[in-house]
This record gives sequence, C-alpha cells and structure tokens, in this order.
Amino acid sequence: MRVLGINAIFHDPAAALVVDGEIVAAAEEERFSRRKHGKRPVPFSAWELPEQAARWCLKRAGLEPGDLDAVAYSYDPNLVEPGQQGLDERWEDLRTQYARRAPYFLANALPGLDPDVVRFVPHHVAHAGSTGLAAPFDGDCAVLVSDGRGECASHLAGSYRGHRLETFATQRLPHSIGLMYEELTEHLGFLRSSDEYKVMALASYAKPVHLDLMREQFYATEDGGFVVNPIDWTTLAKRRSADGEMTQEHAELAASVQVRVEEVLLDLVRWLHERTGQRWLTMAGGVALNCVANTRIFAEGPFEDVWVQPAAGDAGTALGAALHVVAEANEPAVAMPGADLGREWTDEEIRGYLDRAKIRYSEPDDVAVEVAKALADDQVVAWFQGRSEYGPRALGRRSLLANPGFAENLQRLNEVKGREQFRPIAPMVLADRAAEMFDRGPIPSPYMLFVHDVRPEWKDRIPAVVHVDGTARAQTVDPAREPLVARVLAEFDRLTGLPVVVNTSLNTAGRPMVDDPRDALECFGSAPVDLLAIGPYVVRRSGLAA
Ligand SMILES: [Fe+2]
Repeated sequence: MRVLGINAIFHDPAAALVVDGEIVAAAEEERFSRRKHGKRPVPFSAWELPEQAARWCLKRAGLEPGDLDAVAYSYDPNLVEPGQQGLDERWEDLRTQYARRAPYFLANALPGLDPDVVRFVPHHVAHAGSTGLAAPFDGDCAVLVSDGRGECASHLAGSYRGHRLETFATQRLPHSIGLMYEELTEHLGFLRSSDEYKVMALASYAKPVHLDLMREQFYATEDGGFVVNPIDWTTLAKRRSADGEMTQEHAELAASVQVRVEEVLLDLVRWLHERTGQRWLTMAGGVALNCVANTRIFAEGPFEDVWVQPAAGDAGTALGAALHVVAEANEPAVAMPGADLGREWTDEEIRGYLDRAKIRYSEPDDVAVEVAKALADDQVVAWFQGRSEYGPRALGRRSLLANPGFAENLQRLNEVKGREQFRPIAPMVLADRAAEMFDRGPIPSPYMLFVHDVRPEWKDRIPAVVHVDGTARAQTVDPAREPLVARVLAEFDRLTGLPVVVNTSLNTAGRPMVDDPRDALECFGSAPVDLLAIGPYVVRRSGLAA
C-alpha cells in the first residue's frame, strides 16, 4: 500500500511517504522553500500545501501521484463544530472551507492524483500515529498528545494495542496547554508557534515565583483532561517587545509556567498509566518538544520507558496520518528507523556544487578524522552528511560542531548563528559513554528530546554544553546507526579525552535548517565557520578561493 501523508492546516507543512509499511521519505516544506516553518501560522494560509516536499517524496520512491492508494491529510474539517468556544470565530469557517477542498488543491499540486483517494485523519489521531505507530514498542503503548489545537481539542490520551488506537480522554478547547504556552511566548517578545523553546531555555534562569497562582488557574481534572483559566500575563511581567530588555521578571514568569506545565503533564501521564496499564508511553504534539518536561515525565512518571516522535510538532502529523491509514488497512508497519528521512546527494553531485562555486576543497582519507582534528584545534565545523532530518533537531546530518571543552564556545556559536546569548547548545556523545557524564534523562537518547543532569565531575570538562541549571540536552550516538558521526566522536575522544562534541543545527537565526549543498555553501560563506565537511570533502575558510 502506498500512502502519502500531508500536513498543511496550521503550520510546518510537511509530507511523508509510506510504501508497503516502510517509511520511505519524510520532509518539511521549509527545507525546500527556505521559508522558516513553511508558511505563516494564520488561518488564511491553510490552503498552502507542502508541494515541493510531496513531489520529492514521490520522486524518491519512483512513484507518480496516480500510483498512490491514499493521501492522508492530518485534519478532518468534519469534526469542527461551529460555535465551539476557543475556535477563532473570524477565521474558522475559512479554515474549514480550505480543508474541505484540500483534495482538489492536492490534485492540482500533484497532477494525476485522484482527489477521491484523499482521506481526512483527525489531527490528534495523526499526532498519535506519528508516535504510537512509529515507536519501537511493537504496537502496544500508551499515547499522550498535547499541542495548541486540533479541530476542537488540544489533547488526546489513549492507548495502542496491536496498532489500534483507543482514545480515553480528549480535552476540548478553549483549554489548551500549547496555546497558553504560545501566548506566553508572544508576551515575552518571541515569535509564537515558533520560539516556544526559548521560553523553556529562559525558564532555567529564575525561580517559579508565581507557582501558587499557576496552580489555581491551571490544573488536571479527574477525567484525564485539564483546565487552563485565562491568565493576565501583564500583572506578572511587562509585555516585552522583540528587541526589548529581558528582565528577571520575564524569566520568573517563564519559570512559573514551565514548572506548572511539567506538573500538569505529570498528572495527565499518571492518569493515563492507571487507565491503560501500559508499560510504555509515547508522546507527540508541539508540547512534547518541551524536553525539560519530557525528562520529568521519564524520571518521575510511572511508565518504564518514554518515546517521543522527533517531529513532535505538526510536521510529524504528515507521517502519523499516513501510518494511521496503513494501520487501519491492517498492513504491518515498521517502526521509524531514525529521523534521517529527508534528502541526500551523491558524492558526485556534491562535487558538482563545489566545482561550480569555484572554491578550493580537498578529499581527505577520512573526513571523520579530519573533522575531529579541526574540533580538537577548537575550530567550528559545518557538517553536512547523508539524509537530512525530519523534525526541528539537527541529529548529525546537518549540524554545526564545536569543541565542548571551552566555555566561550557557547557565545561563539550563538554569534555564528546570530541568536540570543541565553540559548544553550547541546552535546552529542557516544552512546556507550553517555552514562559516565549524564544522569536522570533516558540513555540512549538519540533524538535530543530530553535533558540530562551533567555529573559534577564532568561540568568543568565540557563547560560549553552545560546550561545555567547544570543540565544538558544530550544526544546519544549509536555507532551501528550513525557510524560516521561515531567515528568523529571516537577520534575526538582519542585526541582530547572527551567523547563529546557540541552539536547545534546548521543554519543561522531565523532561517530553516540547511538541506541541500547550495544551502550549506551559502551558510558556510556567510557565517564565521572554519571548516565545511560536506560528503567526503572538506572546505576550509582559510584559502577558500580556488
Ligand atoms: Fe498539532
């Protein structure tokens, strides 16, 4: 069975293709269009489809639109109840109309597609599928979805048995953890539906002084849902403009909301565990990108193990919708092998890009050894290898790498990227060495979706990656799955005694992650990066011109 999944309705348009139970391709439109998040998150952009991503998915599999058995669209306009509180009255009707016509928009974007094969999959069922059906738990697990909103709800708590979803609770709008967090994001001067992770980073700079108020206004209920009463943020901290001064008051507000979100999620998870009796928990929805909350759920919650979809935001619903349709057809699906589901280029194609740019490059015997040497010399390396990542995290395919042994590399990388100085950078570590330095979060942790406590004896050895609260968002690298990155780490360890390097996404502030070789060259050309390792080739900033 050949199923194309499509996310288009809110933000982060993306496409994914599942063929005979195998996830062949998945990519976000922003990586093609070079427009961060693909489009503006407004109701009147609901018609905009991940056209380029969808066409590429088909091309990757050698399929034509007419070959598809189904297109799974991750929103069901038939579930929208006009008048439901919390829906944007001015625009909701327009969004619904656009969604209803999605089959025709899709047939227009993908000539030859039969609009009758388009299936609407409820938004939160698609999120659930992206994690419950993609996790390595063989189809049996509890599932928690939490985001801004779907059709009429903002959450789903359920269980998969034999790849079948049973829903136990949903929380209807206007109550929404995701929307509350988005509002706070905007109040603090950041971009809503985009910069929520900055609020999470900011939260670690203060104490949650407003926790009592937050507990009064925001709490889990006995039916598996929750209440979020409106909170007037201005009484707690002044509204901040994008370039306004960041004060302690802002950090205290961020901390208060963050800690309360963690507490409420823990309550929801405990309810879900009691209700399902499952051993494993899977999570998705934008709230599941909150790695601080995820770690508390892992460390303090009742489940034995927790798996989070790396594309936990709406982009992941493209994959989840497709997996849901496959499961409904009783076709066995294979768990997601990794997040490297995007585009890749052959060595010859990469060489073509380098030759055309007329820059000097070399082909060392082993690019991993060359990069490890540069990192040991405290150089910053742009790393472009293999298939790009699905989801917002760089996981060793499109990364900026640096030496974690020097504290000033945090500031240096934030300057390379042109982003705020309070933002942490993350370590990448050999999986079998991770437990020596990291604690509390899960190990292995291949998708950078949890934070870990850095063990005291390591804090001074890898200061660049230790956040102000003593944590790090570690990504563990399994040599069997990521042999090239593992070789960089092993060689860097041999040279420095540190089996850890700094890994942050290969992009500059406000731009999508680098995807193709030209993006890589543009990013390298415009940012003070010392070395670009692209496929087997190395480009050095010194002596750049051919
Ligand atoms: Fe969502």
